[in-house]
Amino acid sequence: MAEKQQNMLWGGRFTGGLDPLMVAYNESIYFDQILHKQDILGSIAFARANFNAGILTKEEFTKIETGLLAVEAEWAAGKFVIQPGIDEDIHTANERRLGEIIGKDVAGKLHTGRSRNEQIATDMRLWLRDELHKIEGFLVSFLKVTAQRAETEVDYVMPGYTHLQRAQPIRWSHWMMSYGLAFASDLERLREVIKRVNRSPLGCGALAGNPFGIDRQAMATELGFDSLLWNSMGGVADRDFVAEFLQWGSMLMQHISRWAEDLIIYSTAEFGFVRLADAYSTGSSLMPQKKNPDSLELLRGKSGRAFGHMAGFMMTLKGLPSTYNKDLQESVEPMLDHVKTVGDSIQIAEGVLATLATQPEKMRAALDPFMLATDLADYLVRKGVPFRETHHISGQCVALSEATGTPMNELTYEQLAGVDPRFEKDIAQVFNYDKSVEMRSAKGGTSKACVLEQVAVLKSMLE
Ligand code: ARG
Repeated sequence: MAEKQQNMLWGGRFTGGLDPLMVAYNESIYFDQILHKQDILGSIAFARANFNAGILTKEEFTKIETGLLAVEAEWAAGKFVIQPGIDEDIHTANERRLGEIIGKDVAGKLHTGRSRNEQIATDMRLWLRDELHKIEGFLVSFLKVTAQRAETEVDYVMPGYTHLQRAQPIRWSHWMMSYGLAFASDLERLREVIKRVNRSPLGCGALAGNPFGIDRQAMATELGFDSLLWNSMGGVADRDFVAEFLQWGSMLMQHISRWAEDLIIYSTAEFGFVRLADAYSTGSSLMPQKKNPDSLELLRGKSGRAFGHMAGFMMTLKGLPSTYNKDLQESVEPMLDHVKTVGDSIQIAEGVLATLATQPEKMRAALDPFMLATDLADYLVRKGVPFRETHHISGQCVALSEATGTPMNELTYEQLAGVDPRFEKDIAQVFNYDKSVEMRSAKGGTSKACVLEQVAVLKSMLE
């Protein structure tokens, strides 16, 4: 074992052996190999910069570049053979293989002035940046379906709820857009997060900087970074970009979870507003009649996993002394899991929404005249009665309706006038759900024009 350690990148000063469990405990290759391409591209940029700084000759650089591309080709073809116990992480694995391909003399020059601390930070940022652009695409696509549906189905009127109790009539599209605009804020936030992810730590060294005059800006440009991290100590240790991504995803998953919860409720037989496509439901192994909204339940369930990674990683960071500590290796797995969870969830949500069947007649059937009690109060407000008074009067009409077992819209004009003489014949016009939603025409309301305006606002963010 001691001999094996001598072979490792850092083995020079070691004479004792490593506990075999410690070898496995320390290893990150089994999850950070996903960063193979970023690691190779980062190394090529680093070698090129060292050539330009006069550290490598042209021939040495060309050899290193060709060798690194050969290593990457092995990864891409699934032919890279990991050496257990030797290939501690993706950086050591790539360098070991490079040495085998081009010879240790030249390969041994690649790491001049470099630390794995800057390498892992660089690899993670490059990888996450590209994944976040994919996630941005998924989110835009989901929001396009939302906007499209909200436009097509704008005439469906359904109950709006507070406390999950029937409150006031709303448009079904108003419901869709309430989430659509929350997701639009997530999109704005994501675009902010990407800016902070896409900054380069390469050239920061282990912590104190690079002693060979390496051109950090040239490397950053080659790798497509927007800018540099300006303090080498911070640069190698900064995992705020991971924490911020986890926080971002947690917020998004909180929205997805609530969206899913509403749809689960709306898809029950008791509501029946929507029906999930077979593609996003499953059956029961026991009860033949069941069709379960598993997709929506998983969206709701996976939000817990997302928050968990976020909270767990915040705990990992809290209390670390400055610059690199091995604890930071614990940033990789939550990041990988979160990218998958969030990316898959958005695509599933889009699929569910795109294939959802709506039942507008069920939505309408769930409306109940009591939901117009506010409109009744507003009627008297328009006749000059103070709202506090009209609220009370309308409440008396509700009580009369309950006491007589007559739906509120079927109370006679005489019965209403008996509650308050200021009710006139035109009171009958209040009991109209479509009119009620059209009355909410101040910006942001549930009138048709307002909902379509919201769709337009959303669409302008998706171009
Ligand atoms: N596998 C390590 C990580 O993910 C790479 C950096 C190792 N640096 C060190 N000083 N041991 O963080």
